[in-house]
Amino acid sequence: MTDQTRRSFLRQAALGTAAVLAYPSATVLGANDRIRVGMIGVGDRGNDLLGEVKGIHGVEIVAMADVYSRRRDEAKRRVDGIQTFDDHRRLLDLKDLDGVIVASPLHTHVRHFLDTLAAGKDLYAEKTMAWSIPEAEKCLAAAKDSGRVVQIGLQYQSSGALFDAQQWIKDGWLGKVTHVESWMSRNTPHGKGQWVRPVPSDCTAQNVNWSAFLNGRPDRPFDPFRLINWRLFWEFSGGNVAENMVHQMAWIMTALDLPLPSAAYMSGGVFSEKDGREVPDTIAVTLDFPKDIVVTWQSTFSNKHYELGDRILGSDGTIEHHFDEAAQYWPEKTNRPNGDATRGHAPDQNHMANWIECIRSRGTPNAPPEIGYRSAIAVHMSNLSYKNKRRITLEEARAITPEY
Ligand SMILES: NC(=O)c1ccc[n+]([C@@H]2O[C@H](COP(=O)([O-])OP(=O)(O)OC[C@H]3O[C@@H](n4cnc5c(N)ncnc54)[C@H](O)[C@@H]3O)[C@@H](O)[C@H]2O)c1
Repeated sequence: MTDQTRRSFLRQAALGTAAVLAYPSATVLGANDRIRVGMIGVGDRGNDLLGEVKGIHGVEIVAMADVYSRRRDEAKRRVDGIQTFDDHRRLLDLKDLDGVIVASPLHTHVRHFLDTLAAGKDLYAEKTMAWSIPEAEKCLAAAKDSGRVVQIGLQYQSSGALFDAQQWIKDGWLGKVTHVESWMSRNTPHGKGQWVRPVPSDCTAQNVNWSAFLNGRPDRPFDPFRLINWRLFWEFSGGNVAENMVHQMAWIMTALDLPLPSAAYMSGGVFSEKDGREVPDTIAVTLDFPKDIVVTWQSTFSNKHYELGDRILGSDGTIEHHFDEAAQYWPEKTNRPNGDATRGHAPDQNHMANWIECIRSRGTPNAPPEIGYRSAIAVHMSNLSYKNKRRITLEEARAITPEY
């Protein structure tokens, strides 16, 4: 029996013909079935994810699509027999793909997200879910309608620290939480801006599908600097709130079960290196939430002493969390005199393996579209506040037509 017919047989046995007709592509896979994966956008992050998924037992990387020939050549060296395309639609035409991993630039996320679901594939979509609020709304709606397993690349949703924090909060160890402070900081040598990458000599118009990269942005001659350094420019990027705050905000929102923010204020500017970038490198965000909670996030690119962390401040206790470390808890003796300080011990889960497991079980992964959406809205409300130089409510943010 070929792989394809064995699978169809297993699916029919598991589901019955009616269900198979309703969901003609992969729906239930047995423990011994290989999961066939494709990838869209295999640059820096995509190569990390390729390594992760390659290491998971029972997964086969079948194909990748990238607009830049260098990336396709790299993938061929890393994965024997991989099919490569310069247009993601050709990859999505492949019938026997179970899941697709998207790690393309932010301004292309919505297209890759929607097209992957429309093609009936399960999806691992890098954060931030989409470039704007209307796009994030479309992604959420499509994910809900699709019946597909969708994991957002918010890997700290799979951290043991989150599971511990949720438990402590559920157990009432924090009391009333009114404020969360969070921060993220980096540094670079003088004269070298954070994120700036050199343009490889083979990055030429001949080697790049430039119109696919532009993805509907105004046409212009090939610009290799923008292709490689898309993160620095609003039309492709959401700046550091989309790159990093989103991880922390998703973590905090999940720990405290927060709804969408009611308002955002963001100040800052391009202060560290004035190298032509548009997105700010120095940022202070204040997010108001309906449950009487204010969350602040502060970021700089010219000092990394305090690196990155979150502090959840409650009347009865404090949770502190630094990425890749266990969460810690301290009681507020005023209100919890007999409480003990604790260090969390829940193990981290592998975020990619969690997606693959859910492809098999049809379960809900640790970072479903719903948290991708909530964290994306927090990102875009913050950026809209920065661009408009004023506090922006959720209703106002939803009414603003996105511009770059
Ligand atoms: N979860 C994390 O910790 C994490 C870390 C880094 C980056 N990311 C996210 O991953 C994504 C990619 O970031 P990166 O640093 O790898 O960027 P990158 O520029 O290194 O890689 C993007 C790749 O997409 C390709 N590409 C561009 N347009 C395309 C299109 N229309 N179709 C197919 N391929 C296209 C580019 O050629 C490039 O190879 C971003 O959304 C970023 O926020 C997530």
